[in-house]
Amino acid sequence: MVQSYLGATIFILLNLSFASSTSAFTSQQYSDALTKSILFFEGQRSGKLPANQRLKWRADSALHDGSSANVDLVGGYYDAGDNVKFGLPMAFTTTMLAWSIIEFGENMKSELGNAKEALRWSSDYLVKAATATPGTLYVQVGEPYSDHRCWERPEDMDTPRNVYKVSAQNPGSDVAAETAAALAAASIVFQDSDPSYSHKLLQTARNVFDLADKYRGSYSDSLGSVVCPFYCSYSGYNDELLWGAAWMHRASRDVSYLSYIQSNGHVMGSDDDDFSFSWDDKRAATKVVLAKGFFENKINDFQLYKQHSDNYICSLIPGSPNSQARYTPGGLFYKQGESNLQYVTTSSFLLLTYAKYLDSNGGHASCGSSMVTSETLVVQAKKQIDYILGDNPMKMSYMVGFGDKYPTRVHHRGSSVPSVHDHPGRISCDAGHQYFDSRSPNPNLLVGAIVGGPDGNDNYGDDRSNYSQSEPATYINAPFVGAVAFFSGH
Ligand SMILES: *[C@@H]1O[C@H](CO)[C@@H](O)[C@H](O)[C@H]1NC(C)=O
Repeated sequence: MVQSYLGATIFILLNLSFASSTSAFTSQQYSDALTKSILFFEGQRSGKLPANQRLKWRADSALHDGSSANVDLVGGYYDAGDNVKFGLPMAFTTTMLAWSIIEFGENMKSELGNAKEALRWSSDYLVKAATATPGTLYVQVGEPYSDHRCWERPEDMDTPRNVYKVSAQNPGSDVAAETAAALAAASIVFQDSDPSYSHKLLQTARNVFDLADKYRGSYSDSLGSVVCPFYCSYSGYNDELLWGAAWMHRASRDVSYLSYIQSNGHVMGSDDDDFSFSWDDKRAATKVVLAKGFFENKINDFQLYKQHSDNYICSLIPGSPNSQARYTPGGLFYKQGESNLQYVTTSSFLLLTYAKYLDSNGGHASCGSSMVTSETLVVQAKKQIDYILGDNPMKMSYMVGFGDKYPTRVHHRGSSVPSVHDHPGRISCDAGHQYFDSRSPNPNLLVGAIVGGPDGNDNYGDDRSNYSQSEPATYINAPFVGAVAFFSGH
Protein backbone atom coordinates (compact mmCIF):
# COMPACT_ATOMS: atom_id res chain seq x y z
CA MET A 1 0.00 0.00 0.00
CA VAL A 2 1.41 3.35 -1.01
CA GLN A 3 0.47 6.11 1.29
CA SER A 4 1.94 9.40 2.31
CA TYR A 5 2.82 9.59 5.98
CA LEU A 6 3.22 13.35 5.80
CA GLY A 7 1.09 15.00 8.39
CA ALA A 8 0.38 11.76 10.17
CA THR A 9 0.14 11.93 13.93
CA ILE A 10 1.46 8.93 15.76
CA PHE A 11 -0.22 7.99 19.00
CA ILE A 12 2.99 8.41 20.93
CA LEU A 13 1.40 8.96 24.32
CA LEU A 14 -0.32 5.60 24.24
CA ASN A 15 2.88 3.90 23.18
CA LEU A 16 4.84 5.49 25.99
CA SER A 17 2.31 4.45 28.58
CA PHE A 18 2.67 0.88 27.31
CA ALA A 19 6.40 0.97 27.77
CA SER A 20 6.44 2.63 31.17
CA SER A 21 3.45 1.21 33.01
CA THR A 22 3.86 -1.83 35.17
CA SER A 23 1.45 -4.58 34.32
CA ALA A 24 -1.51 -5.23 36.61
CA PHE A 25 -0.97 -8.98 36.21
CA THR A 26 1.97 -11.29 35.73
CA SER A 27 2.24 -13.72 32.88
CA GLN A 28 1.58 -16.53 35.42
CA GLN A 29 -1.70 -14.85 36.30
CA TYR A 30 -2.67 -14.61 32.65
CA SER A 31 -1.79 -18.29 32.29
CA ASP A 32 -3.99 -19.10 35.28
CA ALA A 33 -6.83 -17.11 33.68
CA LEU A 34 -6.28 -19.00 30.42
CA THR A 35 -6.50 -22.36 32.20
CA LYS A 36 -9.72 -21.31 33.91
CA SER A 37 -11.30 -19.76 30.82
CA ILE A 38 -11.03 -23.15 29.10
CA LEU A 39 -12.10 -25.14 32.16
CA PHE A 40 -15.39 -23.21 32.13
CA PHE A 41 -16.46 -25.08 28.99
CA GLU A 42 -16.50 -28.35 30.95
CA GLY A 43 -19.24 -26.85 33.11
CA GLN A 44 -21.34 -26.21 30.00
CA ARG A 45 -21.01 -29.71 28.59
CA SER A 46 -24.12 -31.58 27.58
CA GLY A 47 -24.14 -35.33 27.02
CA LYS A 48 -21.99 -38.14 28.34
CA LEU A 49 -19.01 -36.79 30.24
CA PRO A 50 -15.63 -38.44 29.66
CA ALA A 51 -13.52 -40.02 32.40
CA ASN A 52 -11.12 -37.08 32.34
CA GLN A 53 -13.84 -34.50 33.11
CA ARG A 54 -12.18 -32.04 35.51
CA LEU A 55 -15.18 -30.02 36.70
CA LYS A 56 -16.33 -32.77 39.04
CA TRP A 57 -19.67 -31.41 40.23
CA ARG A 58 -21.22 -32.00 36.80
CA ALA A 59 -22.56 -35.36 35.56
CA ASP A 60 -24.11 -36.83 32.40
CA SER A 61 -27.18 -35.04 31.07
CA ALA A 62 -29.51 -34.96 28.06
CA LEU A 63 -28.46 -38.42 26.93
CA HIS A 64 -31.48 -38.80 24.64
CA ASP A 65 -31.25 -35.52 22.79
CA GLY A 66 -32.43 -36.05 19.21
CA SER A 67 -34.41 -39.21 19.97
CA SER A 68 -37.73 -37.49 19.25
CA ALA A 69 -36.52 -37.15 15.64
CA ASN A 70 -34.69 -40.50 15.64
CA VAL A 71 -31.32 -38.84 15.39
CA ASP A 72 -28.34 -38.59 17.71
CA LEU A 73 -27.89 -35.04 18.96
CA VAL A 74 -26.17 -35.91 22.23
CA GLY A 75 -23.35 -33.58 23.22
CA GLY A 76 -22.51 -29.95 22.59
CA TYR A 77 -22.80 -27.03 24.99
CA TYR A 78 -25.53 -25.34 26.97
CA ASP A 79 -25.21 -21.71 25.94
CA ALA A 80 -25.35 -19.96 29.31
CA GLY A 81 -27.21 -20.38 32.62
CA ASP A 82 -30.01 -22.51 31.16
CA ASN A 83 -30.16 -25.97 29.60
CA VAL A 84 -31.09 -25.31 25.98
CA LYS A 85 -28.67 -26.09 23.17
CA PHE A 86 -29.04 -23.04 20.93
CA GLY A 87 -27.40 -23.54 17.53
CA LEU A 88 -26.45 -19.99 16.57
CA PRO A 89 -24.50 -19.07 19.71
CA MET A 90 -23.01 -22.58 19.87
CA ALA A 91 -21.70 -22.30 16.33
CA PHE A 92 -20.37 -18.80 17.00
CA THR A 93 -18.68 -20.02 20.18
CA THR A 94 -17.07 -22.80 18.14
CA THR A 95 -15.82 -20.36 15.50
CA MET A 96 -14.30 -18.15 18.19
CA LEU A 97 -12.65 -21.02 20.05
CA ALA A 98 -11.14 -22.16 16.75
CA TRP A 99 -10.03 -18.65 15.82
CA SER A 100 -8.51 -18.22 19.28
CA ILE A 101 -6.42 -21.34 18.70
CA ILE A 102 -5.52 -20.41 15.13
CA GLU A 103 -4.14 -17.02 16.13
CA PHE A 104 -2.88 -17.59 19.66
CA GLY A 105 -2.49 -21.37 20.04
CA GLU A 106 1.27 -20.85 19.98
CA ASN A 107 0.96 -18.93 23.24
CA MET A 108 -1.16 -21.58 24.96
CA LYS A 109 1.66 -23.99 25.78
CA SER A 110 0.32 -26.79 28.02
CA GLU A 111 -3.25 -25.50 27.62
CA LEU A 112 -3.32 -26.08 23.87
CA GLY A 113 -4.57 -29.64 24.33
CA ASN A 114 -7.40 -28.51 26.62
CA ALA A 115 -8.36 -25.74 24.21
CA LYS A 116 -8.57 -28.25 21.37
CA GLU A 117 -10.70 -30.57 23.53
CA ALA A 118 -13.07 -27.68 24.25
CA LEU A 119 -13.30 -27.00 20.54
CA ARG A 120 -13.81 -30.64 19.62
CA TRP A 121 -16.67 -30.95 22.12
CA SER A 122 -18.71 -28.60 19.98
CA SER A 123 -17.29 -29.39 16.54
CA ASP A 124 -18.25 -33.07 17.12
CA TYR A 125 -21.75 -31.94 17.95
CA LEU A 126 -22.00 -29.63 14.93
CA VAL A 127 -20.95 -32.50 12.65
CA LYS A 128 -23.77 -34.61 14.11
CA ALA A 129 -26.24 -31.75 13.69
CA ALA A 130 -25.19 -31.26 10.07
CA THR A 131 -25.03 -34.88 8.94
CA ALA A 132 -27.80 -36.72 10.84
CA THR A 133 -30.35 -36.08 8.08
CA PRO A 134 -29.19 -35.12 4.56
CA GLY A 135 -30.23 -31.61 3.52
CA THR A 136 -30.98 -30.66 7.11
CA LEU A 137 -29.17 -28.83 9.87
CA TYR A 138 -30.44 -29.34 13.40
CA VAL A 139 -30.17 -26.00 15.13
CA GLN A 140 -31.65 -26.38 18.58
CA VAL A 141 -32.52 -28.92 21.23
CA GLY A 142 -34.80 -27.86 24.06
CA GLU A 143 -38.00 -25.88 24.35
CA PRO A 144 -36.84 -22.50 25.63
CA TYR A 145 -40.02 -21.33 27.41
CA SER A 146 -40.46 -24.40 29.60
CA ASP A 147 -36.71 -24.60 30.15
CA HIS A 148 -36.50 -21.00 31.30
CA ARG A 149 -39.46 -21.39 33.65
CA CYS A 150 -37.59 -24.12 35.53
CA TRP A 151 -34.59 -23.78 37.80
CA GLU A 152 -33.24 -27.24 37.28
CA ARG A 153 -29.85 -28.93 37.03
CA PRO A 154 -29.13 -30.28 33.54
CA GLU A 155 -28.78 -33.72 35.15
CA ASP A 156 -32.44 -33.57 36.33
CA MET A 157 -33.87 -31.95 33.27
CA ASP A 158 -37.39 -33.09 32.41
CA THR A 159 -38.61 -30.29 30.16
CA PRO A 160 -39.34 -31.14 26.49
CA ARG A 161 -36.23 -31.73 24.44
CA ASN A 162 -37.82 -30.65 21.18
CA VAL A 163 -35.60 -30.71 18.15
CA TYR A 164 -35.58 -27.84 15.63
CA LYS A 165 -34.02 -27.79 12.18
CA VAL A 166 -33.47 -25.73 9.07
CA SER A 167 -33.64 -27.10 5.52
CA ALA A 168 -34.53 -26.06 1.95
CA GLN A 169 -38.18 -25.63 2.99
CA ASN A 170 -37.36 -23.82 6.25
CA PRO A 171 -34.19 -21.91 5.50
CA GLY A 172 -31.77 -20.61 8.07
CA SER A 173 -28.88 -19.03 6.19
CA ASP A 174 -27.65 -17.24 9.32
CA VAL A 175 -27.31 -20.29 11.54
CA ALA A 176 -26.15 -22.52 8.67
CA ALA A 177 -23.46 -20.12 7.46
CA GLU A 178 -22.22 -19.63 11.03
CA THR A 179 -22.07 -23.41 11.38
CA ALA A 180 -20.07 -23.58 8.15
CA ALA A 181 -17.70 -20.93 9.53
CA ALA A 182 -17.30 -22.93 12.75
CA LEU A 183 -16.56 -26.21 10.96
CA ALA A 184 -14.18 -24.55 8.51
CA ALA A 185 -12.26 -22.75 11.27
CA ALA A 186 -12.10 -25.97 13.30
CA SER A 187 -10.76 -27.82 10.26
CA ILE A 188 -7.78 -25.42 10.25
CA VAL A 189 -7.06 -26.19 13.92
CA PHE A 190 -7.00 -29.98 13.33
CA GLN A 191 -5.22 -29.87 9.97
CA ASP A 192 -1.90 -31.21 11.27
CA SER A 193 -2.86 -33.10 14.42
CA ASP A 194 -5.83 -35.00 12.94
CA PRO A 195 -5.98 -34.67 9.15
CA SER A 196 -8.88 -37.06 8.62
CA TYR A 197 -11.04 -35.26 11.19
CA SER A 198 -10.02 -31.96 9.64
CA HIS A 199 -11.08 -33.21 6.22
CA LYS A 200 -14.43 -34.36 7.54
CA LEU A 201 -15.00 -30.95 9.17
CA LEU A 202 -14.22 -29.13 5.95
CA GLN A 203 -16.38 -31.42 3.82
CA THR A 204 -19.28 -30.94 6.23
CA ALA A 205 -18.68 -27.19 6.18
CA ARG A 206 -18.95 -27.16 2.36
CA ASN A 207 -22.32 -28.89 2.47
CA VAL A 208 -23.67 -26.64 5.20
CA PHE A 209 -22.47 -23.53 3.39
CA ASP A 210 -24.28 -24.72 0.23
CA LEU A 211 -27.47 -25.19 2.23
CA ALA A 212 -27.08 -21.68 3.67
CA ASP A 213 -26.41 -20.06 0.33
CA LYS A 214 -28.86 -21.92 -1.93
CA TYR A 215 -31.89 -21.63 0.30
CA ARG A 216 -31.84 -18.13 1.64
CA GLY A 217 -33.78 -16.97 4.61
CA SER A 218 -33.40 -16.16 8.25
CA TYR A 219 -33.94 -18.84 10.84
CA SER A 220 -35.83 -16.22 12.83
CA ASP A 221 -38.54 -16.34 10.14
CA SER A 222 -38.50 -20.13 9.84
CA LEU A 223 -38.50 -20.88 13.56
CA GLY A 224 -40.11 -17.78 15.02
CA SER A 225 -40.72 -17.76 18.74
CA VAL A 226 -38.49 -20.77 19.33
CA VAL A 227 -35.41 -18.67 18.63
CA CYS A 228 -36.76 -15.14 19.15
CA PRO A 229 -36.23 -13.25 21.35
CA PHE A 230 -33.57 -15.64 22.69
CA TYR A 231 -31.13 -15.69 19.79
CA CYS A 232 -33.06 -13.85 17.15
CA SER A 233 -30.97 -13.06 14.09
CA TYR A 234 -31.46 -9.30 14.28
CA SER A 235 -28.72 -8.54 11.76
CA GLY A 236 -30.17 -10.90 9.15
CA TYR A 237 -28.15 -13.52 7.30
CA ASN A 238 -25.99 -11.59 4.82
CA ASP A 239 -23.32 -11.00 7.45
CA GLU A 240 -23.08 -14.74 8.16
CA LEU A 241 -22.95 -15.65 4.45
CA LEU A 242 -19.94 -13.41 3.89
CA TRP A 243 -18.31 -14.51 7.16
CA GLY A 244 -18.94 -18.14 6.25
CA ALA A 245 -17.44 -17.62 2.79
CA ALA A 246 -14.40 -15.91 4.32
CA TRP A 247 -13.76 -18.92 6.58
CA MET A 248 -14.47 -21.38 3.77
CA HIS A 249 -11.88 -19.61 1.68
CA ARG A 250 -9.33 -19.48 4.47
CA ALA A 251 -9.76 -23.17 5.26
CA SER A 252 -10.04 -24.55 1.73
CA ARG A 253 -8.12 -22.01 -0.38
CA ASP A 254 -10.77 -22.81 -2.96
CA VAL A 255 -11.02 -19.96 -5.49
CA SER A 256 -14.77 -20.42 -5.81
CA TYR A 257 -15.15 -18.87 -2.34
CA LEU A 258 -12.85 -16.05 -3.35
CA SER A 259 -15.05 -15.24 -6.34
CA TYR A 260 -18.08 -15.56 -4.09
CA ILE A 261 -16.63 -12.89 -1.80
CA GLN A 262 -15.62 -10.70 -4.72
CA SER A 263 -19.04 -10.79 -6.33
CA ASN A 264 -21.20 -10.69 -3.20
CA GLY A 265 -19.14 -8.58 -0.81
CA HIS A 266 -20.86 -5.32 -1.60
CA VAL A 267 -24.40 -6.55 -1.22
CA MET A 268 -23.53 -8.52 1.87
CA GLY A 269 -22.60 -5.61 4.01
CA SER A 270 -18.96 -4.97 3.27
CA ASP A 271 -19.79 -1.32 2.65
CA ASP A 272 -21.32 -0.45 5.96
CA ASP A 273 -19.36 0.05 9.09
CA ASP A 274 -20.77 -1.54 12.12
CA PHE A 275 -19.09 -1.33 15.44
CA SER A 276 -20.18 -4.37 17.32
CA PHE A 277 -19.20 -8.00 16.98
CA SER A 278 -21.31 -10.72 18.54
CA TRP A 279 -23.05 -14.05 17.97
CA ASP A 280 -25.52 -12.00 15.88
CA ASP A 281 -23.42 -9.56 13.88
CA LYS A 282 -20.24 -10.69 12.09
CA ARG A 283 -19.52 -7.69 9.86
CA ALA A 284 -16.57 -6.19 11.71
CA ALA A 285 -14.85 -9.54 12.15
CA THR A 286 -15.36 -10.52 8.51
CA LYS A 287 -13.47 -7.42 7.48
CA VAL A 288 -10.59 -8.34 9.75
CA VAL A 289 -10.42 -11.88 8.30
CA LEU A 290 -10.50 -10.52 4.76
CA ALA A 291 -7.92 -7.82 5.55
CA LYS A 292 -5.54 -10.68 6.26
CA GLY A 293 -6.20 -11.85 2.70
CA PHE A 294 -5.17 -8.41 1.50
CA PHE A 295 -1.99 -8.37 3.60
CA GLU A 296 -0.84 -11.88 2.81
CA ASN A 297 -2.06 -12.72 -0.62
CA LYS A 298 -2.10 -9.20 -1.98
CA ILE A 299 -5.67 -9.62 -3.12
CA ASN A 300 -6.18 -6.03 -4.20
CA ASP A 301 -9.95 -6.22 -4.17
CA PHE A 302 -9.60 -6.73 -0.43
CA GLN A 303 -7.97 -3.39 0.23
CA LEU A 304 -11.39 -2.07 1.16
CA TYR A 305 -11.53 -4.62 3.94
CA LYS A 306 -8.33 -3.20 5.36
CA GLN A 307 -9.94 0.25 5.31
CA HIS A 308 -13.09 -1.01 6.99
CA SER A 309 -11.04 -2.88 9.58
CA ASP A 310 -9.19 0.35 10.29
CA ASN A 311 -12.52 2.14 10.73
CA TYR A 312 -13.64 -0.50 13.19
CA ILE A 313 -10.40 -0.39 15.12
CA CYS A 314 -10.38 3.42 15.15
CA SER A 315 -13.89 3.40 16.56
CA LEU A 316 -12.51 1.62 19.63
CA ILE A 317 -9.49 3.80 20.31
CA PRO A 318 -10.33 6.63 22.71
CA GLY A 319 -8.98 9.91 21.42
CA SER A 320 -8.79 8.72 17.84
CA PRO A 321 -10.60 11.04 15.41
CA ASN A 322 -13.10 8.29 14.57
CA SER A 323 -13.66 7.13 18.11
CA GLN A 324 -17.24 5.97 18.61
CA ALA A 325 -17.07 3.58 21.52
CA ARG A 326 -18.43 4.39 24.96
CA TYR A 327 -16.37 3.64 28.02
CA THR A 328 -17.37 3.49 31.66
CA PRO A 329 -15.64 5.91 34.08
CA GLY A 330 -13.42 2.96 35.02
CA GLY A 331 -12.43 2.43 31.39
CA LEU A 332 -14.53 -0.56 30.35
CA PHE A 333 -15.84 -0.70 26.77
CA TYR A 334 -19.57 -0.36 27.25
CA LYS A 335 -22.02 -1.34 24.56
CA GLN A 336 -25.14 -2.22 26.51
CA GLY A 337 -26.38 -3.29 29.92
CA GLU A 338 -27.21 -6.85 29.04
CA SER A 339 -24.24 -9.18 28.97
CA ASN A 340 -21.89 -6.33 28.11
CA LEU A 341 -18.68 -8.32 28.59
CA GLN A 342 -19.42 -10.31 25.44
CA TYR A 343 -18.65 -7.13 23.46
CA VAL A 344 -15.54 -6.54 25.50
CA THR A 345 -14.13 -9.99 24.81
CA THR A 346 -15.00 -9.96 21.09
CA SER A 347 -13.56 -6.47 20.53
CA SER A 348 -10.41 -7.24 22.53
CA PHE A 349 -9.91 -10.36 20.43
CA LEU A 350 -10.25 -8.35 17.22
CA LEU A 351 -7.83 -5.69 18.47
CA LEU A 352 -5.17 -8.31 19.20
CA THR A 353 -5.79 -10.24 16.01
CA TYR A 354 -5.66 -7.13 13.87
CA ALA A 355 -2.51 -6.03 15.70
CA LYS A 356 -0.98 -9.38 14.75
CA TYR A 357 -1.99 -9.01 11.10
CA LEU A 358 -0.64 -5.45 11.00
CA ASP A 359 2.63 -6.58 12.54
CA SER A 360 3.13 -9.35 10.02
CA ASN A 361 2.72 -6.73 7.34
CA GLY A 362 4.71 -3.95 8.97
CA GLY A 363 1.59 -1.82 8.79
CA HIS A 364 -0.56 0.39 10.93
CA ALA A 365 -4.18 1.45 11.06
CA SER A 366 -5.17 4.82 9.63
CA CYS A 367 -7.64 6.82 11.67
CA GLY A 368 -8.33 9.88 9.60
CA SER A 369 -4.94 11.52 9.25
CA SER A 370 -3.57 9.72 12.31
CA MET A 371 -1.59 6.54 12.42
CA VAL A 372 -2.38 3.95 15.03
CA THR A 373 0.26 1.33 15.65
CA SER A 374 -0.26 -2.29 16.59
CA GLU A 375 1.15 -1.49 20.07
CA THR A 376 -1.72 0.91 20.61
CA LEU A 377 -4.19 -1.84 19.79
CA VAL A 378 -2.48 -4.18 22.24
CA VAL A 379 -2.56 -1.52 24.98
CA GLN A 380 -6.26 -0.99 24.42
CA ALA A 381 -7.01 -4.73 24.54
CA LYS A 382 -4.87 -5.18 27.63
CA LYS A 383 -6.85 -2.54 29.52
CA GLN A 384 -10.03 -4.44 28.79
CA ILE A 385 -8.67 -7.85 29.71
CA ASP A 386 -7.12 -6.43 32.89
CA TYR A 387 -10.41 -4.80 33.80
CA ILE A 388 -12.17 -8.17 33.50
CA LEU A 389 -9.53 -9.81 35.66
CA GLY A 390 -9.76 -7.28 38.50
CA ASP A 391 -8.08 -4.00 37.57
CA ASN A 392 -11.33 -2.04 37.97
CA PRO A 393 -13.19 0.21 40.44
CA MET A 394 -14.93 -2.74 42.16
CA LYS A 395 -11.51 -4.35 42.64
CA MET A 396 -13.04 -7.66 41.67
CA SER A 397 -12.52 -10.15 38.92
CA TYR A 398 -15.44 -10.89 36.62
CA MET A 399 -14.13 -14.41 36.12
CA VAL A 400 -15.42 -16.95 38.64
CA GLY A 401 -12.60 -18.47 40.66
CA PHE A 402 -9.95 -15.98 39.55
CA GLY A 403 -8.38 -13.69 42.16
CA ASP A 404 -9.65 -13.05 45.69
CA LYS A 405 -12.97 -11.46 44.86
CA TYR A 406 -15.25 -12.62 42.07
CA PRO A 407 -18.97 -13.21 41.35
CA THR A 408 -20.43 -15.73 43.78
CA ARG A 409 -24.12 -15.73 42.81
CA VAL A 410 -23.86 -16.56 39.17
CA HIS A 411 -27.11 -16.89 37.21
CA HIS A 412 -26.55 -20.52 36.30
CA ARG A 413 -28.78 -23.46 37.13
CA GLY A 414 -26.10 -26.14 37.46
CA SER A 415 -23.79 -23.94 39.51
CA SER A 416 -26.45 -22.68 41.94
CA VAL A 417 -28.32 -25.92 42.71
CA PRO A 418 -26.41 -28.53 44.79
CA SER A 419 -24.44 -31.00 42.70
CA VAL A 420 -25.97 -34.42 41.97
CA HIS A 421 -22.95 -35.89 43.76
CA ASP A 422 -23.85 -34.05 47.02
CA HIS A 423 -27.58 -34.23 46.60
CA PRO A 424 -28.44 -37.27 44.48
CA GLY A 425 -32.21 -36.94 44.96
CA ARG A 426 -34.11 -35.17 42.20
CA ILE A 427 -34.64 -31.46 42.54
CA SER A 428 -37.65 -30.62 40.43
CA CYS A 429 -38.33 -27.66 38.17
CA ASP A 430 -40.09 -25.72 40.95
CA ALA A 431 -38.05 -27.00 43.89
CA GLY A 432 -34.96 -25.46 42.33
CA HIS A 433 -36.29 -21.95 42.83
CA GLN A 434 -35.32 -21.98 46.51
CA TYR A 435 -31.70 -22.02 45.32
CA PHE A 436 -32.36 -19.29 42.79
CA ASP A 437 -33.88 -17.10 45.54
CA SER A 438 -31.20 -17.86 48.12
CA ARG A 439 -28.68 -15.17 49.09
CA SER A 440 -26.00 -17.83 49.59
CA PRO A 441 -23.11 -18.15 47.18
CA ASN A 442 -23.48 -20.82 44.51
CA PRO A 443 -22.41 -24.18 45.94
CA ASN A 444 -20.61 -25.27 42.76
CA LEU A 445 -17.84 -23.08 41.42
CA LEU A 446 -18.25 -22.61 37.67
CA VAL A 447 -14.52 -21.99 37.42
CA GLY A 448 -13.47 -19.66 34.64
CA ALA A 449 -16.93 -18.35 33.78
CA ILE A 450 -16.93 -14.69 32.76
CA VAL A 451 -20.26 -13.12 33.66
CA GLY A 452 -22.26 -10.39 31.89
CA GLY A 453 -20.40 -7.79 33.95
CA PRO A 454 -20.89 -4.41 35.59
CA ASP A 455 -23.24 -1.58 34.62
CA GLY A 456 -22.25 1.62 32.86
CA ASN A 457 -20.93 3.06 36.13
CA ASP A 458 -18.70 0.10 36.96
CA ASN A 459 -21.10 -1.26 39.60
CA TYR A 460 -21.78 -4.94 40.01
CA GLY A 461 -24.52 -6.33 42.26
CA ASP A 462 -23.54 -10.02 42.51
CA ASP A 463 -27.24 -10.75 42.24
CA ARG A 464 -28.33 -14.08 40.78
CA SER A 465 -31.63 -12.67 39.57
CA ASN A 466 -30.00 -9.93 37.50
CA TYR A 467 -29.02 -12.11 34.56
CA SER A 468 -27.83 -9.06 32.60
CA GLN A 469 -24.91 -8.87 35.01
CA SER A 470 -24.53 -12.32 36.51
CA GLU A 471 -25.09 -14.79 33.68
CA PRO A 472 -22.09 -16.38 32.02
CA ALA A 473 -22.17 -17.53 28.38
CA THR A 474 -19.94 -19.62 26.14
CA TYR A 475 -19.64 -16.77 23.64
CA ILE A 476 -18.30 -14.41 26.32
CA ASN A 477 -15.50 -16.85 27.13
CA ALA A 478 -14.56 -18.13 23.68
CA PRO A 479 -12.85 -14.97 22.38
CA PHE A 480 -11.33 -14.37 25.82
CA VAL A 481 -9.46 -17.68 25.48
CA GLY A 482 -7.45 -16.28 22.57
CA ALA A 483 -7.02 -12.82 24.04
CA VAL A 484 -5.71 -14.00 27.40
CA ALA A 485 -3.46 -16.56 25.67
CA PHE A 486 -1.79 -13.63 23.92
CA PHE A 487 -0.97 -11.95 27.25
CA SER A 488 0.11 -15.18 28.91
CA GLY A 489 2.77 -15.48 26.23
CA HIS A 490 4.04 -11.88 26.36
C1 LIG B 1 -29.17 -5.17 36.59
O1 LIG B 1 -28.12 -5.01 35.65
C2 LIG B 1 -28.22 -3.90 34.79
C3 LIG B 1 -27.10 -3.98 33.80
O2 LIG B 1 -25.85 -3.88 34.40
C4 LIG B 1 -28.23 -2.63 35.62
O3 LIG B 1 -28.34 -1.52 34.78
C5 LIG B 1 -29.37 -2.67 36.61
O4 LIG B 1 -29.31 -1.55 37.45
C6 LIG B 1 -29.30 -3.93 37.46
N1 LIG B 1 -30.50 -4.04 38.27
C7 LIG B 1 -30.46 -4.07 39.59
C8 LIG B 1 -31.79 -4.20 40.26
O5 LIG B 1 -29.43 -4.01 40.22
